[in-house]
Amino acid sequence: MPMDPSRVALVGSGFLPARGSWMLDLVVLAMVLVVVVLSWSLYLVRYQQNYQLHKRIQLTLGIVLLIAVTAFEIDMRFITDWRSLAEPSPYFSREGWSLAWGALLIHLACALPTTLLWIAVIVAALRHFPSPPSPSPHSLTHRRWGKIAAIGMYATAVTGWIFYYLAFVAS
Ligand code: HEM
Repeated sequence: MPMDPSRVALVGSGFLPARGSWMLDLVVLAMVLVVVVLSWSLYLVRYQQNYQLHKRIQLTLGIVLLIAVTAFEIDMRFITDWRSLAEPSPYFSREGWSLAWGALLIHLACALPTTLLWIAVIVAALRHFPSPPSPSPHSLTHRRWGKIAAIGMYATAVTGWIFYYLAFVAS
């Protein structure tokens, strides 16, 4: 079936077969990696008591996410007009409320507190665990907030994928 010409101009800006920009596609794929690596890091600390590798992975994830979020923000604010890319979706409308806007709102409600929580958990861990890291009086607080920070990151990924589907895949 021939493609709607308004779509042809938009498809191809990213590398996935949808309407996302290059940066949107990169972040959507990178979140798969983040979810897998985060799960591995939690497995290492819980079942193998490998605190040093857990620390290294979490610091790397933190730095990679910070760079990704900055690049993503620059792309969304100054380079890509994501609303135009979302236009063909039946779940998006520029005016008024739509399912895609609702999904974006829920996604941001997960992503913003999770970003702050990750910074707080990492700074507190670096300050209160010995180096090399091992269980300490900070363990109870870290386990509690670390779990919430991890759940926040999973929720950020899942809600991000849902928004990507509603805005840039559905047509
Ligand atoms: C945002 C970053 C981080 C998250 C989300 C996170 C998450 C977690 C979670 C959920 C646990 C408990 C695992 C379990 O027993 O089920 C844990 C344990 C631990 N984490 Fe992290 N962590 C982070 C960063 C760090 C950093 C930077 C360090 C070291 C400086 C660290 C050191 C430890 C240690 C030593 C434990 C074992 C605590 C104990 O069981 O006594 N974590 N982490």
